[in-house]
Amino acid sequence: MHDEAGTLEMTAKVLVVEDDEVLRQLLINVLNDQGYEVEAAETGEEGLRAMEQDVFDVILLDINLPGMDGMEVLRLAPARQPDTQVVMMTAFGTVDTAVEAMKQGAFDYINKPFSTEELLLTISRALEEQDLRREVARLRQKARGVGGGVQIVGKSPGIQRVIDLIARVAPSRATVLVTGETGTGKELVARAIHEASNRANKPFMPINCAAIPENLLESELFGHMKGAFTGAIQNKKGLFEEASGGTVFLDEISTMSMSLQPKLLRVLQEYVIMRVGGRQPIPVNIRLVAATNLDLKKRVAEGNYREDLYYRLNVFPIDVPPLRERAEDIPLLSNYFLQKYSELYTIDAPKLPARTLDRMMSYQWPGNVRELENFIERAVVLHASGGSATIGFELPSDVEEQDGGTNILDEAQRKRWTFEDLEREYIFRVLESVRWKKTEAAEILGIDRRTLYRKLKRYETEGASGPE
Ligand SMILES: Nc1ncnc2c1ncn2[C@@H]1O[C@H](COP(=O)(O)OP(=O)(O)OP(=O)(O)O)[C@@H](O)[C@H]1O
Ligand SMILES: [Mg+2]
Repeated sequence: MHDEAGTLEMTAKVLVVEDDEVLRQLLINVLNDQGYEVEAAETGEEGLRAMEQDVFDVILLDINLPGMDGMEVLRLAPARQPDTQVVMMTAFGTVDTAVEAMKQGAFDYINKPFSTEELLLTISRALEEQDLRREVARLRQKARGVGGGVQIVGKSPGIQRVIDLIARVAPSRATVLVTGETGTGKELVARAIHEASNRANKPFMPINCAAIPENLLESELFGHMKGAFTGAIQNKKGLFEEASGGTVFLDEISTMSMSLQPKLLRVLQEYVIMRVGGRQPIPVNIRLVAATNLDLKKRVAEGNYREDLYYRLNVFPIDVPPLRERAEDIPLLSNYFLQKYSELYTIDAPKLPARTLDRMMSYQWPGNVRELENFIERAVVLHASGGSATIGFELPSDVEEQDGGTNILDEAQRKRWTFEDLEREYIFRVLESVRWKKTEAAEILGIDRRTLYRKLKRYETEGASGPE
């Protein structure tokens, strides 16, 4: 949500827990008028349930509630909403309780009956203080980035919004679902959440659900007991146990089988797991971040995904926009990658000619940031070590147009390539076909990753006078 000027304006979300119907309705109206998003609960129990389903910036909590009272709700709230500011609503003559509430972590209290101004002032102060806290988290994330950790580059409103959401959700344990096309930076976002959370000094454990056969995935995630299946020669902890205190990143979550889904659901509902072949439920202390580049909701509609699991995963969605929708990030990202790969290949960073950059800005980047990164890496590799200070290279779209399915062997013959030329071109084509995932390319080429690096490095020192 950003306005015309491109600045960032998040609508604050307020949860009202108030049993008095008239007052509740009044609060809803006043807050709605101010542009806040409001959810209301009649009882403490209902309030806690709402806290499990959504993330709120402020909770307006009545002290006197039927059943579970406000103090009890206040005590239980942080586990569900660690980043929320709680404002207590107290009745005349209960100052002691109000003070006690502040000691218990409430941000402030207002005495009934209160004026609209008083209410709004308190809420905006709560939001201000919270902004400050988030800004600190953001700066900390940035500082870590400089230190070789996670850095999310970009100034577009689209990516700034993502950074803002990361800062918002990081301090809580809320499950995050990161969506976006391939190569947009979903894993980077997951790492950033971990780094900005209070779990940062505990493990971040990524696992790609699509890359592991179904029967293995269960024991990878949940562990197994000795003798549970052939090959289970001893008890083994799974990822959820290994990640204790940290964050588990489940990539390509849409591919998880129907038989595993209920087990994951249980983790998210109760934070307990059962090892394969085990009988004892084991509590696990993890925070889950999941990612998908497929539309999970559609998978639900098609009957391939449990709806209850979908809702548990989708508590806090972060959608990373495709690169073509944030072209203003392309110059920044290009420079960032130029720097990165020039350092890696130890050459002076070449410059991007304005003309090339122009064309890059209008290119569609179907492989998103990963494609851009690989494109720059290739440019750096091809850049002659002693040659010009700018890089000349072709955009993938040009390459496609030119090659238009030409046979590499015909081309080699026509242009009188050497064996080496042919090898180099073939390596680049394979790399491009797997979007520069080097492990995958090395596998196709039948060489190990180190050899591949060595060859790339050699092309770089030999200069860019390749088979063009
Ligand atoms: N905003 C960004 N700033 C810096 N680097 C980025 C940014 N976005 C993506 N990258 C880099 O681009 C590459 C691809 O990102 P990542 O692996 O996170 O994408 P993904 O969405 O998980 O892709 P896939 O769907 O294919 O798994 C990584 O090397 C990542 O570091
Ligand atoms: Mg990924």
